[in-house]
Amino acid sequence: MPVTVVVGTQWGDEGKAKVIDLLAGSHSHVVRYQGGHNAGHTVVVGDQRYALQLVPSGVLYETVVPVIGNGVVVDLPTLFAEIDTLESRGVSCKRLRISTLAHLIFPWHQRQDAMSEALRGDAKLGTTLKGIGPAYADKVKRIGVRAGEVRDRERFRVAVKDRATQENALFASLGEPLMDVDAVVAQYDEYAQRLLAYLDDTVNMLHGALERGANILLEGAQATFLDIDHGTYPFVTSSNPTAGGACAGSGIGPRDISRVVGIAKAYTTRVGAGPFPTELHGELGDRIVDIGHEFGTVTGRRRRPGWLDLVMLRHAVRVNSLTDIALTKLDVLDDFDTIRVCVGYQLAGRELQGFPDDAETLARVECVYVDIPGWKQSLRACRREADLPREVLSLLSLVEQHTKVPVSVVGVGPERDDVVLRGANS
Ligand code: GDP
Ligand code: IMO
Ligand code: MG
Repeated sequence: MPVTVVVGTQWGDEGKAKVIDLLAGSHSHVVRYQGGHNAGHTVVVGDQRYALQLVPSGVLYETVVPVIGNGVVVDLPTLFAEIDTLESRGVSCKRLRISTLAHLIFPWHQRQDAMSEALRGDAKLGTTLKGIGPAYADKVKRIGVRAGEVRDRERFRVAVKDRATQENALFASLGEPLMDVDAVVAQYDEYAQRLLAYLDDTVNMLHGALERGANILLEGAQATFLDIDHGTYPFVTSSNPTAGGACAGSGIGPRDISRVVGIAKAYTTRVGAGPFPTELHGELGDRIVDIGHEFGTVTGRRRRPGWLDLVMLRHAVRVNSLTDIALTKLDVLDDFDTIRVCVGYQLAGRELQGFPDDAETLARVECVYVDIPGWKQSLRACRREADLPREVLSLLSLVEQHTKVPVSVVGVGPERDDVVLRGANS
């Protein structure tokens, strides 16, 4: 079974892209399966730093076919800007394939995202304002426009015109400024002509590759606790980043999947609103943000910091069938005297069983912590398990004991080689 899924286990930005880049070399295809340009995926190779939003992280390997799967919502201006930037830096995107079934994001989706956030006032979700939620809403309402529609130029122009006109009627009723429908149609007609070169029936393409013995990597964006079903609703994104979403968003069934790698930071961060049991306010949190450069790749927002939460991680193991965990950014904690790890939740003095099923309860839990002495040395040069200080090994044991899943990758710095591989992967 030749398919590996990479999934975030917290609230995003766990370092998924770096692990995907690490694994991509032994795969023929890397497939993004959900989300859109709300994602910000950073890969560092030598002195080059690549910030990707839509193009799969495998693009940096010439041997890899990067695929934007059917579950993704595609913003064409962002896509083409990203392709142009990559190509200007010598990274060819000619191999990129985009599913005909993927839905497109349009300017009205971004407007709706901003309007619904404004309407929420203080109860804002803190979305990326990229139009992700409204685009998925249109998909579910069955009024979305799919990438494959551009193959019939006239039909696509009519579809965009009809949708823009309908959305303008809504904007008019709300007293909002109107879009210039003809300008939108003309602009998207141009994008559509460029999109044609990348379009493919990616589901059949991937199955053809599997039949020829290919290894495929399915790249998740966002994370388990931003999942529309399993996340801290309503403070979530509008897709399924969890491993089940990898099947729906790529067209590859569960029996082809042999490995599901969960990516977890050695601490936790969250961008946007919502409950966060281990959140750190004050100086300790500021240190994590400073040392870990915890500012959003897409929006530049400061990420909220907190300790590692093994109740969350255990839940992520369950809902994703994780086979192993990559624990990233341990080096960020190099100088801390004590590292705290949450191993349980209590509510009114009573231990909770499992992860609470609503955001209100999660906001009220108290964390039970285990303290681990800091290692107080740089991990950056560590490459083998034997190089890791014993305090790090006890942290890894604690994670494995609570999750019952091995930690196969340890991140010790941002660069491609800054990892320690453990067990069968070493
Ligand atoms: P993603 O959205 O999950 O792909 O993660 P992001 O790219 O948004 O954020 C992770 C950040 O941490 C990026 O800037 C990475 O270069 C960086 N990073 C990844 N792994 C490590 C690590 O082990 N140590 C350090 N110091 N940085 C890391
Ligand atoms: P990667 O793939 C971190 C968060 C937003 C907001 C919520 C909903 O880089 O890990 P949306 O625009 O999706 O409707 O916003 O989800 N969010 C992310 N947070 N990393 C991401 O992606 C995110 N994508 C969305 O901040 O709280
Ligand atoms: Mg990110």
